[in-house]
Amino acid sequence: MSNKKIQKILVTGSVGQIGSELTMALREKYGAENVVACGRKTKPSPELLESGPFEWLDVTDKEKLARVCEKHGVDTIVNMAAILSATGEKNPQLAWNVNVTGLINTLELAREAGLTQVLCPSSIAVFGKGCPRVDTPQETVLKPSTMYGVTKVTGELLCDYYVGRFGVDARGLRYPGIISHKTLPGGGTTDYAVEIFYKAVEEKRYTCFLGPDTRLPMMYMPDCIKATMDLMEADFEKLEHHGDFNISAMSFTPAELAEEIRKHIPEFEITYEPDFRQAIADSWPQSIDDSAARKEWGWKPSYDLAAMTADMLEHLQKRHAEGKLYG
Ligand code: SER
Repeated sequence: MSNKKIQKILVTGSVGQIGSELTMALREKYGAENVVACGRKTKPSPELLESGPFEWLDVTDKEKLARVCEKHGVDTIVNMAAILSATGEKNPQLAWNVNVTGLINTLELAREAGLTQVLCPSSIAVFGKGCPRVDTPQETVLKPSTMYGVTKVTGELLCDYYVGRFGVDARGLRYPGIISHKTLPGGGTTDYAVEIFYKAVEEKRYTCFLGPDTRLPMMYMPDCIKATMDLMEADFEKLEHHGDFNISAMSFTPAELAEEIRKHIPEFEITYEPDFRQAIADSWPQSIDDSAARKEWGWKPSYDLAAMTADMLEHLQKRHAEGKLYG
């Protein structure tokens, strides 16, 4: 079952925050023509569209998913299509359809067609009531309070079920909040940690939708891409876990992030107007124990708060000076 060579990859949700950068990194590694980007409705960037194959695809449409995979001879699906936590609270059924039906479609296809691998991303949103919020362990109670979390726990269980029951090579990691400067995130509770940089550069002020002391686990995009690609290449035989790896890089509060930004932009001001996303953040861990990922596939992050902040501001300030902050 395991360690077949990854040759032809389909990335669902490739127009999203992680998908857009992951697709380009995968094209770099596996060859541009070997990575098929898919999107549901958002217009892809010229970079994504012109650098390799692109297909319009809704992951809830299993027949089309199968047709696209067959057309391109796909052996590996990276299922980045998802509705995030805040949008999921506004439209729980949509979150279930995209996140669960979409995932089981890819797992079923992997089983039927004997695919090499399926990557099933999970999230810190799987945690909720009853688990330790500091250094949250790999194995703990999973009682999320959001529909997004419910779909991600279900996804982890499905992933492990397909591994154990059908021998499908399915893997996944629990992403923390992801910070990046290429594609804006959408509909997440951790999105403030991206918005704050754009506003700091543009207006030197930001109104945060979470309170000052809300500590959450976060990761810079280069680490997110590395974690994802390292897990995809990990030796299956050495994995004790499959769909649910904790991964960690840094944890901070909005007040701490503002302080770090002020080291570069001293006049930066932050105010706080917590909304419904505060309750979501308060149900999530503050920091994560990722020792299983470190042990089983050698995970190690490169960016901390200071390095991430400096790099984010360098990129965004350059774009702002060129009048292209938002691309
Ligand atoms: N970034 C996600 C969210 O906030 C968490 O995985 O919904």
